[in-house]
Amino acid sequence: MCSRDPASNQLIDYKNKDAEAQKVATTATGIPIGVKDAIQTVGPRGPALLQDFVFLDEMAHFDAERIPERVAYAKGAGAFGYFECTHDITKFCAASIFDRVKKRTAIAMRFSVACGENGSADTVREQRGFAVKFYSEEGIWDMVGCNMPVFYIRDPSLFPSLVHAQKRNPQTHLRDADMFWDFMTLRPETLHALLMYFSDRGTPDGYRHMNGYGAHTYRMVNPSGETFYVKFHFKTDQGIKNLDARRCTELCSHDPDYAIRDLYNAIKKANYPSWSMFIQVMLNEEAKKCKFNPFDVTKVWCQKDYPLLPVGKLVLDRNPTNYFTEVEQLAFSPANFVPGIEPSPDKMLQGRLFAYGDTQRYRLGTNYNQIPVNCPYRVHVRNFQRDGAMTVSDNQEGAPNYFPNSFCGPKESPRALALQTCCPISGDVYRYMSGDTEDNYSQATDFWTYTLDNCGRKRLIRNISEHLSEASQFLQERAVKLFTMVHADFGRLMTEALNTAKISKF
Ligand code: NDP
Ligand code: HEM
Repeated sequence: MCSRDPASNQLIDYKNKDAEAQKVATTATGIPIGVKDAIQTVGPRGPALLQDFVFLDEMAHFDAERIPERVAYAKGAGAFGYFECTHDITKFCAASIFDRVKKRTAIAMRFSVACGENGSADTVREQRGFAVKFYSEEGIWDMVGCNMPVFYIRDPSLFPSLVHAQKRNPQTHLRDADMFWDFMTLRPETLHALLMYFSDRGTPDGYRHMNGYGAHTYRMVNPSGETFYVKFHFKTDQGIKNLDARRCTELCSHDPDYAIRDLYNAIKKANYPSWSMFIQVMLNEEAKKCKFNPFDVTKVWCQKDYPLLPVGKLVLDRNPTNYFTEVEQLAFSPANFVPGIEPSPDKMLQGRLFAYGDTQRYRLGTNYNQIPVNCPYRVHVRNFQRDGAMTVSDNQEGAPNYFPNSFCGPKESPRALALQTCCPISGDVYRYMSGDTEDNYSQATDFWTYTLDNCGRKRLIRNISEHLSEASQFLQERAVKLFTMVHADFGRLMTEALNTAKISKF
């Protein structure tokens, strides 16, 4: 770690910026403070006085300065910039950010580590979060994705268990290989994502060198009201770079904030990172005939059948001016759609639509959308919601707070109405278990056979065996059975690697 890179120099830069300025310390209510390093006492040895409001003001705020961390993806880094539309996709989508080539829309992005806590190391093997907030003139669109094109599970009811199994054991407060492998091997739909997780891309070299994926299938609506299913891809223009196991371990001890530092320094040095955005498009007719469930987030769409179509570019050119205000308080939600983009029937995506706003009301408070970084600042928000803790806007002044009304309150948008899709849905209401009813293996087999090369397969085996060898014997055996279902060689090589790990432990 270089000690005088821009991140290390932040305070010096601050000092140099306006060294001459006379800045008076105040309380939170702006009262100038005469003495900052001594509380009021009776005599030099105390006791202290309750009337010392300067001290109470400081201490009371400190007592309350932590908010709950995100229940998942807690450790992260954020930055700001723009999206530039580079290709015309108006035949697929009416969203205003795509309405003309060269159009720019302001964005916020947050990258994160899926299961570690806020203070955990950036370079551990984990899935990474990749979230983009588009501040469009038709409100906020959030694309809350990750660095893998697939996810572990396909039913949202399992999400809390998926996260619990990867976080800390409730008794020992330790990460627990038995919990991890028990859950994963009881749910074979995790296999495709697991292979990616344990491949080279499971330890990206910071956030600039990884791709982002929307993972889910979304629906686009074009200006004529026609709909298309799409998947979003964001390819790093810096090139994919991953860290090998030794470097990861080194960085965990020497620079646990490696990825945050790397992003901050790159932007500060005007080496602005960017990602090229693509979509894959599936027609409604194709979706009906698709040989797998196109709304299953454990599956990729083969790029030969559904080629990547270029759309635009994300560029990050501004660091946050304050981390807490602009990154910790960032609130992304897959439920934030703009006219022209909608959810598909993907059950996982549907399950996410409620969770984010719900947790953000708990994590940030009911008016979290008034926090400047979350506020759809290009739009005048006009609705019928009022009040709530920490209302900091004009609270919509005297406008009617009910609908309909006869007093010139906000009207419905004809454009949003025109773009609202109308699609037939029928079926029997039931809890459809999807663990074994969908194909859990073919794409994992393809990944092993075609996507990885020989060296990649070897590293995958080593990465898995190091982790799996920490789990109980019966879980190792259950995992090997599943890997054998993916490919006989995979099962055989894994058994050999686990035996070697066992011998080296004695
Ligand atoms: P790929 O096989 O190249 O990749 C599938 C997806 O996985 C892409 O989004 C790719 O990302 C991503 N990916 C590639 N390597 C890794 C990695 N190490 N870790 C995580 N993600 C990775 O593309 P296709 O869409 O053409 O293939 C679709 C499916 O078909 C895949 O399951 C593939 O394995 C399989 N396949 C089958 C073949 C066959 O002949 N039957 C031939 C080739 C693939 P990105 O491209 O964004 O970098
Ligand atoms: C964060 C729930 C699936 C990517 C979160 C948070 C919750 C959550 C509650 C914390 C949000 C906050 O505090 O602001 C869920 C549920 C899921 C699900 C219930 C499935 C049913 C996924 C999937 C992806 C994903 C499939 C990726 C494709 C993220 C990311 C963040 C996040 C990137 C961090 C966002 C940020 O940077 O603030 N998720 N999630 N999640 N989730 Fe999910």
